[in-house]
Amino acid sequence: MALRIDGKAISMQIKDECKEKVASYKEKGIEIKLAVIQVGNDPASSVYVGNKKKACAYVGIESLSYELPEETTQDELLGLIKTLNEREDVNGILVQLPLPEQIDEDLVIKAIDPRKDVDGFHPQSVGALSIGQPGYVSCTPAGIIELLERSGVEIEGKECVVIGRSNIVGKPMALLLLRKNGTVTICHSRTKNLKEVTKRADILVAAIGKPKFITKEYVKEGAVVIDVGIHRNENNKLCGDVDYDDVEPVASAITPVPGGVGPMTIAMLMHNCVESVALLKK
Ligand code: GUN
Repeated sequence: MALRIDGKAISMQIKDECKEKVASYKEKGIEIKLAVIQVGNDPASSVYVGNKKKACAYVGIESLSYELPEETTQDELLGLIKTLNEREDVNGILVQLPLPEQIDEDLVIKAIDPRKDVDGFHPQSVGALSIGQPGYVSCTPAGIIELLERSGVEIEGKECVVIGRSNIVGKPMALLLLRKNGTVTICHSRTKNLKEVTKRADILVAAIGKPKFITKEYVKEGAVVIDVGIHRNENNKLCGDVDYDDVEPVASAITPVPGGVGPMTIAMLMHNCVESVALLKK
């Protein structure tokens, strides 16, 4: 039987640690404020944004909510970001993605002051991560490192295979595993002989975007399997990129969907907001 890595419980631990740190900052007169911007009302984004605000309330971070209409122009959004960059009382700025098509996402990400980039998406944050300098780390891959470490999975010297090369998950995931001294391979849609590569993995991270793609044929006996995917199956039930029932018997540890990687993203956002106090001083 594989260890079922409980992201819900681990994310709760992290939020409780953040709550304690926020309380001790408050005793010193330091308040943390996160600006959360949503443009339009994409239902999935509304759920994510609502959960982020709830987490802020739980840990004691004040969230400033900006709900802008779908037809907001790029200049209007950039204007708001400029104001928030300049506000000394605002620690973090989060612009929920995706944005409506009239707005250039890259430009928006670049407009955020890197010292307030709690999502870790700014090129400066990504660059700092790649050369091991301090900065914000993208929340989902940072959360996966926490899941591994808090479950007693050693990374150093292990064969780590990441499937997916997105800027938000795959690439920062590979950099973080490398920083932990893993031997890292990134696979993607053009990878040849995918099964042969993934079968080498001691730690396999699936961020593919295809429901139940990873079956036991892709997994080495005893591997640790991390599932970043989230999909609804034909019965409207949530499932991941990994076929859990098929893979669980061969894995030594595995994350479920839901309740695995998902809750970690918001916990790490809270962690980044706490970190902002130190980063803003620099
Ligand atoms: N859209 C999907 N995931 C994320 C995330 O982690 N941060 C932001 N800002 N938008 C997202």
